[in-house]
Parts: sequence; structure tokens; C-alpha cells
Amino acid sequence: MSTIAPPKKPQINTALPGPLGQKIVEADAQFVTPSYPRPSFKLVADRAEGVWVTDVDGNVFLDCNAGVAVCSTGHCHPEVVSAIQEQTAKLIHMCGTDYYYRQMPDLARKLDEIVPIKAPTRTHFANSGTEAIETALKLAMHATGREKFIAFFNSFHGRTLGSLSLTSSRVAQRRGFRRQALDVTHVPYAYCLRCPFNLGRCDDNSCCLGSIDWIENRLFKTTMPPEECAGIVVECVQGEGGYVPAPKEFLQGLRRICDEHGILLIVDEVQSGMGRTGKMFACEHYDLEPDIITIAKGIGSGLPIGACVARADLMDWKPGAHASTFGGNPVCIAAALKTIELLERELIANSAETGAYLQDGLKKLMQKHDCIGDVRGLGMMIGVEFVESKKTMKPAPELRDKIEYNCFERGLIILGAGANTIRWSPPLILTRENVDVGLEIFDEVISASLS
Ligand SMILES: Cc1ncc(COP(=O)(O)O)c(C=O)c1O
Repeated sequence: MSTIAPPKKPQINTALPGPLGQKIVEADAQFVTPSYPRPSFKLVADRAEGVWVTDVDGNVFLDCNAGVAVCSTGHCHPEVVSAIQEQTAKLIHMCGTDYYYRQMPDLARKLDEIVPIKAPTRTHFANSGTEAIETALKLAMHATGREKFIAFFNSFHGRTLGSLSLTSSRVAQRRGFRRQALDVTHVPYAYCLRCPFNLGRCDDNSCCLGSIDWIENRLFKTTMPPEECAGIVVECVQGEGGYVPAPKEFLQGLRRICDEHGILLIVDEVQSGMGRTGKMFACEHYDLEPDIITIAKGIGSGLPIGACVARADLMDWKPGAHASTFGGNPVCIAAALKTIELLERELIANSAETGAYLQDGLKKLMQKHDCIGDVRGLGMMIGVEFVESKKTMKPAPELRDKIEYNCFERGLIILGAGANTIRWSPPLILTRENVDVGLEIFDEVISASLS
């Protein structure tokens, strides 16, 4: 690790991207698929440490996106790097589908300890979020003998064909792929700021029950017999859909529906899990107990690993039913075990405390700027929604894009989510000093972007 003191502010010395970055962007445009949904700004990363990312031209950025909510322990945390290095020197791969190694039960045991499922659990290992979701879907079908699912508008669960059947945050994810692979019905999510049932903004959270009523009194009485529904898949805080935390009553309502009809509640914690919301899992904020929980992103501090953790009684499928060559690779598991240790030691607490400090600062900016219509979130999963004015609350997606771009030009990495929201998903090591630097840039950029 470098012994140079970390910078205190971003340092931008070239046009962005700089000359070296530009060459890489051009090569990428020629040889790499154009299907990646990249934003208008072009960050060409070379190295990173903690919350600071240096591009190939030597520009230094404050990272408040963490590689899309992945680098939970900060970039290249020295203890994570050591754990990875030690493991690579001993055993890189063996294929857990056919052989045994201690890392698999070690992490599965640890997950059993930390997931909010009271019954004993078992874990299936994957390489990504979408694969963890595929596992959950297959498992739910296998365990219930049913094949229909309920998911929510604006949700994001991945892009492989099964998970894509659930995903509904942007039409670009669907265009060209014809019918859904799976039988999924989408229901409005309880997004109180923009109530899908036009019930207005409520203070007692009762209107979020519109979605519950929709499932019970419309869906189950018209197109989906409840006894044919295998699972309801939900994010407690919608991620790609715009960083929207659900009201508790809505999630508890889903739990009740599942209990009444033998439906499995699949809680997707791929983005909201691993300390991001100030608790290990977002569902803990809601006293919500899933039957199946999916994990990826933040668990590996950047190494590719996903997990589907389920009640052990559900996982009584036979050898061959589901497996993956690389899933649960020992190096990725070493990174995950070290990540969990760091989260438990200090980073979940920091996510809650410094996340609250960040959210307070953003709320002050909301009072100052008429174009901020909402600031919401839990821990370090915070959404800032841009509008034309507080009076009209009309979404302002172009302004959002401009602010995202201009922040980058000033050395602050933040990323859009949903149509008109900026997400703040920094590494969980972010300090108050980092927050002050980030907020100062954000504030100045908002003022400048309005003119
Ligand atoms: C909630 C959620 N589920 C699933 C996924 C898919 O994860 P991956 O991109 O690793 O396949 C994502 C990715 O953003 C996500 O946010």
C-alpha cells in the first residue's frame, strides 16, 4: 500500500477524460459491447485507495458511488488486499461443485449467523447479483412446485433472462428481448412521494397499502390464483429504481400475504445489504424476515461473489439441480469473510453515523435549493430527487444528468438512479471530512447547473 497521505480534496488537472483516458475510451468503443449503460461522463480508472480514485491521467476523484455500491470497505482496503493475496498464494480455484474446501462452509456458516432468518439456513454461492436471483427463482419454483412470481415496477434484479423477467426499472433493459422468460406480474411499489394510486402523500403510511390491496383484491381475484404464486421478490430500498425506501407497512403486508398463501418472500439485498443502510441488511430496519435473501455487490469488496441464502428446509433439492463452476471461489470468499469482519468491527456503525451526517447535510441543501424535491434513504444509501420546483414537483431528469456530469468535472463521483435521482452510495469508510468536501462540491454544482 502507498504510504503517501491521502488527498483531502479532488484534484483535476486535465480535460476529462484526459489524453490517455481518451485513447482507452476510443479502444473501448471499438472492441467492447455498447450495451453497458454508461453515464455521459467518462471515468477511466487506473488505481484507487480508500475513497479516492485516480484516473489514467492522474486526476483524483472523491468516490461517492463505490463502483456502484460495491467497494463497501473502500478501494483496496489493506486487510482485504492481504486476505486476497494470502489466499491466492494457497488455492485460487478448485470448483466447489465437485470438490470441497473449507472456505465454502466458513462463509455459509457466517451468513447463517448474520442473515435475519431465524430458522437454520443454507447458502448457494454465485458470482454476481443476477445469479443469486436466478438461484432464488429456481429454488422458489422447486420448493413450492409453483411458477408464477410477483415483482414491482421500478425494481432491478439483474439482466439474465430469469432476473430480467423481474427487472422493470427502464424499458432499455427490456427492448428487443421479446416476451418475459418467466411468468412475472408487476405491481406498483409503495413510492410514497409519487403515490402510484394517487392517494397523495400520507403521514400515517396507510396509503402504501394500495399495493397490498392491489395484490390481494385485484391480482389474486383476476389473473393470478395465489396458490400458483411461488414467490414475491422485493427490494426493501429500491436501488436502480431511484433509492426509494419502502414503508414498513408495505413490507409487513407482503410478509402477511406470503404467510397466508404459502408464497415465499424473496428479499433482494444485492444493493441494500452488507451494511449499506446502517444495518447489515435493510430488512432489519423493517423487522422483516425473508424466506430467501439474495446478496452480492458489497459482500466481496470488489471481488465477484453472490449468495442466495435460504431457509434450510427449502433447500432440499438434489445434486445437479443448481451449481456454478466459479461460484464461491476461495479467493472471493476470503475477501467476503474479511469484508464481513470489517463491517462488524466498525463499518456498519460508520454507515449509520456518517450516513446520517451526510443525509442531514443533503437535507440542508434541499432547503436551500428549490430543485431538490426529496432527500431520503438509510445509512449510506441516500437518494436526492431533482424536480423543476418544489411547487410542481415535476421530475427534472435533464437537470439531474447535468448535475451528475458537472460533479464529475469537479472531481466528485456520484451516479444517477431512477429517472431524476442522484444516488449517494459511498464506500462505508467515508468520513465527516469527506462528506463536507462532497457536499461543498454538490452545493456549488447545483447552483452553477441552474444557470
Ligand atoms: C437489487 C439488485 N439486484 C440484483 C442486481 C444485479 O446484480 P449484478 O449486476 O451483479 O448481476 C443489482 C445490480 O445493480 C441490484 O441492484
